[in-house]
Parts: sequence; C-alpha cells; structure tokens
Amino acid sequence: MPGTCVIGLQWGDEAKGKLVDILTGEHDVVVRYAGGANAGHTVVSGGQTWKLSLIPSGILRDGVQCVVTGGVVLDPASAIREIEMLESRGVSVAGKLQISDRAHVVFPWHIAEDKLLDGSLSGGGAIGTTGRGIGPCYRDKVGRALAIRLGDLYRDDLRLRIEHVAAFKNRLLAAGAPGSEQPVTLDAGVIHEQYLAYAERLRPFVSDTTAYLLDAVEGGGRLLFEGAQGALLDIDHGTFPYVTSSNSSGVGVASGSGVPGRWVERVIGVVKAYSTRVGGGPLPTEQDNAVGLHLRERGREYGTVTGRPRRCGWFDAVAARYTARLSGVDELAVMLLDVLGGLDELKICSAYEIDGRRVTQFPSQIADLERAVPIYETLPGWSGELADVRREADLPAEARGYLGAIADLVGRPVSIVSVGPDREQTILRARPTSRRPPWQASQPSPVAGA
Ligand code: IMP
Repeated sequence: MPGTCVIGLQWGDEAKGKLVDILTGEHDVVVRYAGGANAGHTVVSGGQTWKLSLIPSGILRDGVQCVVTGGVVLDPASAIREIEMLESRGVSVAGKLQISDRAHVVFPWHIAEDKLLDGSLSGGGAIGTTGRGIGPCYRDKVGRALAIRLGDLYRDDLRLRIEHVAAFKNRLLAAGAPGSEQPVTLDAGVIHEQYLAYAERLRPFVSDTTAYLLDAVEGGGRLLFEGAQGALLDIDHGTFPYVTSSNSSGVGVASGSGVPGRWVERVIGVVKAYSTRVGGGPLPTEQDNAVGLHLRERGREYGTVTGRPRRCGWFDAVAARYTARLSGVDELAVMLLDVLGGLDELKICSAYEIDGRRVTQFPSQIADLERAVPIYETLPGWSGELADVRREADLPAEARGYLGAIADLVGRPVSIVSVGPDREQTILRARPTSRRPPWQASQPSPVAGA
C-alpha cells in the first residue's frame, strides 16, 4: 500500500515540514491537499533555511514530484514568489511541480474580506486569521456563484467573470466597511491583467492532479500526504469557530486530493513536546508565565507566515488523543523535545475538570473547552542539551520517561523524536508492527454490553 500521511495533531506549527523532508526520500510524490498560503513550513538542511508556504517541501529533493491538489486554495502571487525564491537559490522547479486546475484561486477581494470580517464573530471576538484570504476563498468555493478556479484563468470569459465578481464584492466591501474607513475598491481591469500574467507564469505547472495521483497510486507509486495546519484547526472537527476553513485533520486527505483513504498505509501524527497556538480561541494548558516564555524563546515560537508570537503551554494529551483517533494515527512523531531542557519539572494534561467533573473526552463545544481546567501529571525535567543526541538510549532518563508518558496518555507509540531543526537532529525508533494500538484492559470494551 503506497500512502503515508503526516498530520499535525495540535493547532499547527508542529514542525511537519522537517518530517516531510525526512520521509520524502522513501516516496515518489509529495502531496499538499488542503489550506493555502496561511501555512508555513520551515526546513533546515545543510545549514540553509527554507520557508515554504504552498509548495511541498519535497521540492528540495531530486527525483520527487510535488503536487498541490484541488483541495488547496491557491494565491498565485504567493506560489510564483515561492517558485522564484527556489529557482534563485538553485532549486529547479520545472518538471517537478504540478498544481491542480481544480484549485480555487485567492483574489484581492478575499484578502480584503478576510481583513474586514475577522473580529466580527457572531458571538463576538476575533479568530485572528492569517489575513491570507483563506476563509473567504473557501466560502466562495462552497457558495459556487462567485468562485474562480485555476483552470478558469485560461478561459476566454475570464474578464467577464472577474467583472461580475468584482462588482458584487465592491458592494459587499462598501457595505461592510466601518463608518470612518474608506472601503477597498477593486478595479476589475487591473485584476484581470494581473491574473492573466499569473496564469501565464503558472501555465507549465497546471494539470489535472487527481488523474495524475490516481494513476500514480494504482501504478504502485508511493505518495506522501503533507498536512497543513493542525487537526484542532479542522473546520468540522476542530475548536470551531477558532479554526481554519479546511479539513486540516486526516479526514481531509481523500476529499482534498481525490485519492481514496484506502491507499493510505501509514499515518504519522506530529506533535510538539508542548502546545502552541496562534490567533484566538481556547488553549487550556496555556502558560502566561516564565514557563510560557521559556517555551517561546527556546522554541523560537513566532509565526512563520505572520511573525506573531505564539501562545505556549504544556502538552495536552486530551486534545492529542482525540486528534490521533480522528486522523487514524498509527504512530507519533514528537518534535522540539530539546526545547523542554532546563525546566525543573514538566506537566502533561491528562484530563480536564469542567464544572467539577473530570473529563477525558475532548469537548465538542467551545464554551466547554473555555471552562476546562487542566488536570496535570507532573514529571521530572532534565538540564542537559539534547541537540547532539542521535540514539534513544542516549536521551536522559527523564526525557525517555516524558516520551513514554506522552505515548501512554495519547494511546499511540512514539516512533520519531526531533531534538533540533536540522534533518540530522532526529531519532528514529523502530516502527510499530501492528496498525492498531493494543486494547488496554483499563478501557471500557468498544462492544456495547460485552
Ligand atoms: P486562517 O487559516 O488564516 O483563516 O486562520 C484561522 C486560524 O488558523 C487562525 O487562528 C490562524 O492563526 C490559524 N492558522 C492558520 N494557518 C496556520 C498555520 O499554518 N499554523 C498555525 N496556525 C494557523
């Protein structure tokens, strides 16, 4: 079976880019299936740092095809900037990158709407989006009438379509602008010229990626699906409304790529050794204190896309257990373990207390999560640096104990540990042999009445 998935199990920024880069060598095609230029992947290789947003990090390796599927919302300007950045640094993109003609295109009106609407949640407050037009573009995709896909950029009626949508959006933006603010006015002619130029630049990369991927898997090709954001930001299963607008958990792989889930053999759930979140919404284990500061500074926890400082806290095993099950995770990759070095004691949230009740199931309602008080397991920390550790046996006993606690509480084995940003700073443990985690006697039987 040819597919591997890499899925973030928290609120994004789990260092999936590094893992994808490591696994790329064992695969033929790397597939980005959801999200857009809101994502930021950092890969450090041979002393060079690469920041990618739309193009899969597999592009840095030879002999691998990179595919951006129809589940992605494509900002052509961002894609072109990335292609040009890669080419200027000697990475050849020609013949290695395909972008789906089904991908929906981000236009200036989406970015304007994103900025206008964030802060207007129906219950009050702001999502704190990345401002990249992601939500409005997905909204137009679902609404259909105002949607423009990448394949449409090559049609003769493009100008008419842009005029139609821009006229509608200008009315919307004018109505929505607060009294004192000058509404953004969209010039359909200028946008048309601009997007024609983008279309020409992208033409060599545009294809029917669904057909390509189905041919690849049916022919025995090995596919690596690269998740963007984290499962807790999933539009259907995350901490709604503080989520992104796509299925960022494992459930989005098939719908976003067009490749049925039955082709996926291995699902790796990626977690940081602690928690972070950018933007609004509850983060039950948040540490607005010296611990949070330690995590932010040692972990360089500033957004790749927006530069915003990330909110930091202890590892939340209630949340990760939920998303590991949701995404069908077989094994865990624990990233940034080195960041915890120097803390006297470490905490892992193993349950929440909500209205006096102990809860181990992740709440479906944001109001419940907002009231959740973490119940922690406390473990000893370690003081030494882990940056040069390459074997599990060389980790301090406390670090091994911490990884064991994560595996136990999440219910999945840890098979990969990262102790620094470089490819080399990775400990690979034996992969689990069984797909299913062992059923533990302490858990209730899944069969009613058994
Ligand atoms: P949007 O995806 O720009 O609409 O933002 C929605 C929420 O998802 C905001 O809280 C963002 O900070 C968050 N978000 C979007 N992309 C990422 C990411 O790649 N990493 C972490 N958070 C993200």
